[in-house]
Amino acid sequence: MRPEANNSTTAAVKRRYAALLAQRLETSPEQIFLFWKGRVALYALLKAIDIQPGDEVILPAYTCVVVPNAILYAGGKPVYVDISPDTFNMDVDQLEAALTSKTRAILCQNTYGLSSNLEKINQIARDRDLVTIEDCTHGFGGSYQGRPNGTHCDAAFFSTQWNKPFSSGVGGFAVTRDARIAQRLHAFSSKLPHPPFRNLATLKLLYFVRRYLLTQRNHWSLVRAYRWLSRRNLIVGSSSGGELEGIAMPENYLYGFSKTQSREAIRNLVQLDAWQREQKLNAERYTDFLRRHGKNHVSPTLFADHSFLKYPLLVNDRDAFMAAAEKARINLGDWFVSPLHPVESNFSDWGFDPARFPVATRVARHMVNLPTVRSDPARVSGFLAEHLDNIMGENAARSLASEHRSSSSNPTTTADEVFSDASRRPRTKINAVP
Ligand SMILES: Cc1ncc(COP(=O)(O)O)c(C=O)c1O
Repeated sequence: MRPEANNSTTAAVKRRYAALLAQRLETSPEQIFLFWKGRVALYALLKAIDIQPGDEVILPAYTCVVVPNAILYAGGKPVYVDISPDTFNMDVDQLEAALTSKTRAILCQNTYGLSSNLEKINQIARDRDLVTIEDCTHGFGGSYQGRPNGTHCDAAFFSTQWNKPFSSGVGGFAVTRDARIAQRLHAFSSKLPHPPFRNLATLKLLYFVRRYLLTQRNHWSLVRAYRWLSRRNLIVGSSSGGELEGIAMPENYLYGFSKTQSREAIRNLVQLDAWQREQKLNAERYTDFLRRHGKNHVSPTLFADHSFLKYPLLVNDRDAFMAAAEKARINLGDWFVSPLHPVESNFSDWGFDPARFPVATRVARHMVNLPTVRSDPARVSGFLAEHLDNIMGENAARSLASEHRSSSSNPTTTADEVFSDASRRPRTKINAVP
């Protein structure tokens, strides 16, 4: 390993990046901690709050598998709560039932850029002396009740992976205003090894490919090739195969952040405001279009605050919809097509029983994401117009939730609606981490 020289230039670039983040998060650079990936930032936070074996961490039952992984690697136990069909975040009304004397922390996710009900969660946490952590991996740049995402809980973590609000290829950071957590994060992050030279060289190559070679036409072929290579650990990727197949912490998991990533992040961060304006505008256009056609859409009441990293849409037959989109060269997103995306089976390894989280499980079966940035919304709407029959109706999300309520009084129907019944597994080839 020949690390990037850990010299004063590296420190200066990282400081500059931390200062830019701090400005946006209305905090000081000393409260920002940079990591190789968002999941490493979460792991560091859990260590900083001194998670002990068996301590329970609450999280939504609709997330990326690397989140429960970080909890398990840190020695904690993930405890899932089903989601609200409006925001695809934790259903706060079900939160209290999940709390036990072992609960230590609650993760408040920002799915697709939509916020959780943070007042209510914070109130519950305060009453019981629990730590709250915002999972802002989708939500940098958005706000909640007029304040930036990531400033509402005891701590927050963010991701700057490829498809996140702005990118450093892979990357993440944590922020906290809590002095004790900050001090422990500092101690933890200063001991982390520097990312290996090979990883950084590959990242630079990938930046080049993304900037100059990726087109609408080759999007899916390149993305598939990238996912295939990273899953086999042949390229620095979003996730290694091991992270998606089991709960053992991979060897090359804990790294700090590099100058290479900082430079790429700074370069992209300056475009964030323009991108987010575009995202919001496109999300409004989609909502307007879908509302006019009586199809499911994000409620306009959620527009004031949220950033729209992706626009969630529920369809009847996802495989058909995705295949048609690929043919039409519309780059739809595929998160989260499993409640522990992108895991397809062996949910029990993660302590997850799909039958207990029917809303998340059903939503995952029907979800696609519309692009909100660097896309042509008119072309996307044209595509939607051609495939209206495959888009679920206005009250799709609500009816998925109420279907659960009526079927839960009849256990025989509940059982055959989960992934454990092979005939109803999602047919989509799931092989990607967002
Ligand atoms: C909700 C959520 N949390 C955490 C992460 C982890 O972020 P990173 O890929 O930077 O580790 C992701 C995925 O990428 C995610 O979608």
